[in-house]
Amino acid sequence: MQQVDASIRRALASEVPLISAIGSYIVGAGGKRLRPALLLLLARAHGYDGADLHDLAAVVEMIHTATLLHDDVVDESQLRRGRQTSNATYGNAASVLSGDFLYSRSFQMMVAAGKLRILRILADATNVIAEGEVQQLMNMHDPQIGIEQYMRVIHDKTAALFEASARIGAVLAGCSADAEEQAATYGRSVGMAFQLIDDALDYNGNAEQMGKNVGDDLREGKPTLPLILAMQRVDGEQRALIEQAIRDGNAERLPQILQVVQACGAIDEVHAVARAELQQALGVARALPEGPHRRSLIELCEYSLRRDA
Ligand code: IPE
Ligand code: IPE
Ligand code: MG
Ligand code: MG
Repeated sequence: MQQVDASIRRALASEVPLISAIGSYIVGAGGKRLRPALLLLLARAHGYDGADLHDLAAVVEMIHTATLLHDDVVDESQLRRGRQTSNATYGNAASVLSGDFLYSRSFQMMVAAGKLRILRILADATNVIAEGEVQQLMNMHDPQIGIEQYMRVIHDKTAALFEASARIGAVLAGCSADAEEQAATYGRSVGMAFQLIDDALDYNGNAEQMGKNVGDDLREGKPTLPLILAMQRVDGEQRALIEQAIRDGNAERLPQILQVVQACGAIDEVHAVARAELQQALGVARALPEGPHRRSLIELCEYSLRRDA
């Protein structure tokens, strides 16, 4: 991961000082580096350790970082990776444009790697992410959004990049079509569970541990699974409270809503859905050759469920 970070630092160099400043600001703040970890672990689990691994792992982290820069503008978020967001520090315009810089620099690096297959996987993934974020924007303030629509959004905005990262690991290792699909399934499954837990943590998490604020989704009127399930489980005043909160996008009632969401079992059910999603990933990981990479991929599944940051 140190080599991945070195590759990211090289890629952030720009003659425009604000771009390098924002790049170093968000990358230097940390982050879990999950997507590059998936890429590296799947490549190595299949016996590959080529020189291009770190640059491509850097690429998926940079694409992720670009989506965060844009996402925090759209979500009007104030805290990320334990720091003020880039939009809070440098403003929306600078964040959006620096996100564009990161995206386009990622594509330059993919072209330099000279693998059309990988270029295609990430071109498709970034396009799907953009679709997911726009879809989510259209779902805002709508209490009628159902589970299926929600699942589609989290697949597109989050699971697609996990899937692409894992798939690229397998492609680099020269895996069979079947092993490549297995890797993609692993990534997708972990990505779905990861976003499900993220959406639960937005209600019952701890801002200090997460490095981002609790209640952002409610503040925006985002119909995520904790609220969708709660609306199915309660009625009368409690249901009206949630519907109104989604329409208004107001976190003033967060404590009351958290109480309803927790008491009706919606948070527990989100965890159960995430656990069920992860079964596919676990199946894939367990079928991999014995060794430290297989073990890490299994641990990553467990971590995705019990994480609090
Ligand atoms: C945040 O992703 C966006 C989601 C998909 C929930 P991460 O939780 O992986 O963010 P960092 O990179 O660790 O900050
Ligand atoms: C994930 O959604 C955003 C992206 C995939 C870009 P969220 O909006 O829930 O992510 P956080 O909570 O801001 O990290
Ligand atoms: Mg957000
Ligand atoms: Mg979130």
